[in-house]
This record gives sequence, C-alpha cells and structure tokens, in this order.
Amino acid sequence: MNLHHVEAGTGQPLVLIHGFPLDHTLWLPQLEGLADIARVIVPDLRGFGKSPGPDGPVTMEHHARDVKDLLDHLGIERALIGGLSMGGYVALAFADLFPDMLEGLILCNTRSVADGDAAKRMREITALKALKGDLHEVISPMVGTLLSEKSQTKHPDLAQFVLDMMARQSPEGVAASSRGMALRPDRTPLLGQIQVPALVITGSDDTLISPNESHDMASQLPDRELVVIPGVGHLSCQEDPQGFNTAVRKFLGRLRLR
Ligand code: MLT
Repeated sequence: MNLHHVEAGTGQPLVLIHGFPLDHTLWLPQLEGLADIARVIVPDLRGFGKSPGPDGPVTMEHHARDVKDLLDHLGIERALIGGLSMGGYVALAFADLFPDMLEGLILCNTRSVADGDAAKRMREITALKALKGDLHEVISPMVGTLLSEKSQTKHPDLAQFVLDMMARQSPEGVAASSRGMALRPDRTPLLGQIQVPALVITGSDDTLISPNESHDMASQLPDRELVVIPGVGHLSCQEDPQGFNTAVRKFLGRLRLR
C-alpha cells in the first residue's frame, strides 16, 4: 500500500508517525520547524487522512510494513523513525521487523506494553461505536484527555484543531486500528535489543500514558535520553512545538556526532 505522505527538507530522513485517531497534520509544527535539519516525512497511516482504508483489523505490524514500503518507494535505506502514542507502537513494530533500516528511534507519549483485558474491551467498543456512526461520541470526550489543562488555556484553538482532525477520520479506519491496537504484543523485551540511540519524549501532564511509564520504558533502552516537557499532555508535539523540536534537534546533533 502506498501511504499518502507529506515531506519537507533534505538530508537525514526523519519519519514521524501520528497517533490515534489522527493524521499527518499532527506533525505540522515539526514539518515547519525541523525541515532545516532533516528530511521530515509524515505519512497518513492506512485508513487515516488521505491513505486508503482497510478491510479488517490493521495491526501495528501492518502499519510498520506500510511505512517500510513508503521508504522503499522513496529510495530510503535507513531512517530515524519516530511515533506518538499509537505511532510509537508502530515505531516499535518497525524496530522489531526492520532493525537494519533504523537510524534512531523517537518514542513520544507511548508505551511498550500490550493492552490489558479492560483496554481490549474498550477498543472493541470504540470500533463498534465508530462503525455504527457514533464517531462523535468516541472523539468528543477524548480532547480533554489528550491536551493538558495548561495547553487548553494557553492555546484555545488547539482543542478545536484536534477535534476537527479526529472528526474527519473514516469510521472504518478508526475501527480497524482500534482493533489492531488490541492485538499488539508486549514489546518490552525488544527494548533491551535496540542497537540505535533512542529519544523518549513525554509531557509532565500526560494522563493517558504517565511520565512514570515513559521513564520505565526509557530505562530499558540501552542508549536513551528522556525529555519530559513541563505542562504538556499527550500531544506533546502540538502542545509545545518549541520544546519538542528543541529536544529532537539536540538528538539529531548527537546522532551526527556518532
Ligand atoms: C493515541 O494517542 O494514539 C492513543 O491514545 C493510543 C492508545 O489508545 O493506546
């Protein structure tokens, strides 16, 4: 499958994978703010944005293979792979499947563990609601949990931007990845095997995946750096683009020195 993507800049390929139920526009501040130091590539995952929809559940491995196909299509042999939340699950699946294509990892507001039983049940409820035409019921309570209170006050337009992004996703795409997330394995054992430098970014006020979880995940990566952005929630790349991009710039500088 050829994923729809947008890119900016030249040089070191940096693929940034969006979360759920979002699209490539999550990364607009990085397309603008990092194109002077990297070739920033932001795909729409299968079933999101302008990428065609799936027939059944889309696992994180399906998404990772789509990203690999995109890199092959662009003639890129190795890339820095980053992802936020579900995008991080995909980045870890990519690291598992295609370690030789990995230049470095950027794991944002994400986790390595699998869903528990309650989370799996919620995924199915989400999928059924979306397919029944109740996407709005799924997404409207989400905005308040994705953004920190501080971000909602400081950037009043951001909540609407995120709501609009979620509202334009197809019910089939949302259902397919919701079911796919429930199928993902625990990738914690992979962390210790990762041979490339990793940057873990989170927000101090992420209530969906706590900074403690990010800390635990980071501690198992052999060559890692952890950045906790103050006052920021689950969508760190949008809530504090400057803090986020500064962390990525420093990481890229460190990679160049290797
Ligand atoms: C996301 O932001 O991608 C989701 O919160 C991930 C999840 O539901 O596990």
